[in-house]
Amino acid sequence: MNQRMMVEMAVAAVQGKLGAAPAVGIVLGSGLGGFAGELHGAVTIPYEEIPHWPASTAAGHAGKLVAGHIGNQPVIVLSGRAHLYEGYTPLQATFATRVMKMLGAHSVVITNAAGGINLSYSQGALVALCDHINLQGSNPLTGPNDDGWGPRFPDMSEAYSAGYRDIAKEAATTLGFPLPEGVYAALAGPNYETPAEIRYLRAIGADLVGMSTVPEVIVANHMGMKVLAISCVTNMAAGVLDQKIDHEEVLETGRQVRSRFTALLNAVVPQLKG
Ligand code: HPA
Repeated sequence: MNQRMMVEMAVAAVQGKLGAAPAVGIVLGSGLGGFAGELHGAVTIPYEEIPHWPASTAAGHAGKLVAGHIGNQPVIVLSGRAHLYEGYTPLQATFATRVMKMLGAHSVVITNAAGGINLSYSQGALVALCDHINLQGSNPLTGPNDDGWGPRFPDMSEAYSAGYRDIAKEAATTLGFPLPEGVYAALAGPNYETPAEIRYLRAIGADLVGMSTVPEVIVANHMGMKVLAISCVTNMAAGVLDQKIDHEEVLETGRQVRSRFTALLNAVVPQLKG
């Protein structure tokens, strides 16, 4: 079965349960899943009930799709995503992005936990991605191209919408916290980086490092969706501070930023008009 048929089966299964077609898809990163509980009039669909949908195995990721509204914006919120380090293929890691587009979403808001490489960041900072560097060694567009979904060679010169970043920065200012921009380097993981790798990433222009997001952003661009991506700096990257990185700390920082993060999404998402 080809990927389009699998996506269409998932779309058919979800569509029947939704009150309204989503305009914006939201992907919640490690420790940020609590936001799914904030939606009004929500319908929850566990991933197991959606055909071909990859299960979510990482700690800190719940594994459910929640559909509802933020203001009057119809949204789908994904609490839990499929990462390459779980053994998922790039196609599986981007399955949800394709489904959200086929359900009607014109835009996607992607959040993640990331290590801070830029020394002006500190733990708990939120950063709007302005670009990325794909160092995962794979690409979700490899293989036959479905011309109905997008072009063989998609442009990536504004992979992250400048207009959406402006909206997010203005909202953060109103809420009283900074929202700097940064370049995200994606590695396959699952180990955290070595200090030498972090020095290398800094030298090539990365401000943040993580293990997700880039496959979804590539596919969103392929399908003509606009992207806003927000990283939570859950820890400074390896070698920046004289301490080790552990996943519990990553999750804990995610929980600590919850109220700022929720306020930002609530302010920004209703303004994303495609
Ligand atoms: N490196 C890679 N991914 C991450 C990190 C990190 O330091 N923190 C949270 N996700």
